[in-house]
Amino acid sequence: MSKVDIVKDYYGKQLGGSADLKTSACCDVSDLPEWLRPLLARVHSEVRERYYGCGMVVPPLIEGARVLDLGCGSGRDSFLLAQLVGPEGSVVGVDMTDEQLAVAEAHRDHHAEKFGYANVHFLKGYIERLGDLPIEPASFDVIVSNCVINLSEDKGAVLDGVRRLLKSGGEFYFSDVYADRRVPREVREDPVLYGECLGGALYWNDFRRLAQASGFADPRLVEDRPLSVNDPRLRSKTAGIGFHSATYRLFAIDALEDACEDFGQAVAYKGTIPHHPHAFTLDKHHRFETGRIFPVCGNSFRMLKETRFASHFDFVGDFGRHFGIFAGCGTDVPFDHEEKSVSAGCC
Ligand SMILES: C[S@@+](CC[C@H](N)C(=O)[O-])C[C@H]1O[C@@H](n2cnc3c(N)ncnc32)[C@H](O)[C@@H]1O
Repeated sequence: MSKVDIVKDYYGKQLGGSADLKTSACCDVSDLPEWLRPLLARVHSEVRERYYGCGMVVPPLIEGARVLDLGCGSGRDSFLLAQLVGPEGSVVGVDMTDEQLAVAEAHRDHHAEKFGYANVHFLKGYIERLGDLPIEPASFDVIVSNCVINLSEDKGAVLDGVRRLLKSGGEFYFSDVYADRRVPREVREDPVLYGECLGGALYWNDFRRLAQASGFADPRLVEDRPLSVNDPRLRSKTAGIGFHSATYRLFAIDALEDACEDFGQAVAYKGTIPHHPHAFTLDKHHRFETGRIFPVCGNSFRMLKETRFASHFDFVGDFGRHFGIFAGCGTDVPFDHEEKSVSAGCC
């Protein structure tokens, strides 16, 4: 069986619901914020029972947005996000597995009635071939995906397609499984480990390289948690490999650089994004408290100023003068600070 057929069989026929999973990889144990709970409760129980995500893909400030959900499965996240984008926004879910799409489709009218508007539709297709689908380039504000890209055999094609479909300033906000090293062949070829989202997991640093090659110069890690493999056979086969569920955000901004450069800029959060009155978290290293002046690198400045977040921040500075690498952002000045005595003959 090809990997695609293994995945279709696993999610279409082998699994009847979240309870059938053999590892914690595809089960989201992250705490859902209080304000989201009533929205999730409005999603039909048959949809929720076939949820196989590994994180929470609910980016802030998406009212009125056009959202694409890659590998939407039975549609749990699509129906959740549909309530957040509201009647002025829309959600398109894409999946390749008939049985998963059938559950999503069967409950579309139910949700439209419950929400009071119909703003979700589903397409059958492959996330590596998004160009084959009836969706326009540069037409989405936000693209999400929950525990799907690890299952793809051509992750670069997925990221290329995402970059083409995002509007300028849009973002890909997604949760997936990553490994702390390159996964060896015997783990990749095990059909259960592949179906359980471990066999196809990317080594995190290879993910960074792939994302950069697709035009996402500065991937930002939002949150992560280690995964446990509980089944004894699977645990023994994966011994020594650390698996993590992680949420990244990738901004479609052409001018982003591959390192954090210092232009002497700063931002201050106004506290105006709904449900985030006290602070706004851009990523694991940037939590902007309301009202506090926060020095930022050029990339962070652009991620706030050239996106839907712009009106919620005050901005200080521009790109007129460069002050070198931004200290503490992972890249250090390579040169020694102290002058060394040099022998005669050397310039
Ligand atoms: C782990 S499940 C996650 C489903 C959904 N995101 C959720 O959170 O419940 C993976 C889903 O991705 C779909 N999928 C995997 N590879 C795909 C591909 N190459 N193209 C389209 N869909 C794919 C599967 O059919 C399955 O529904």
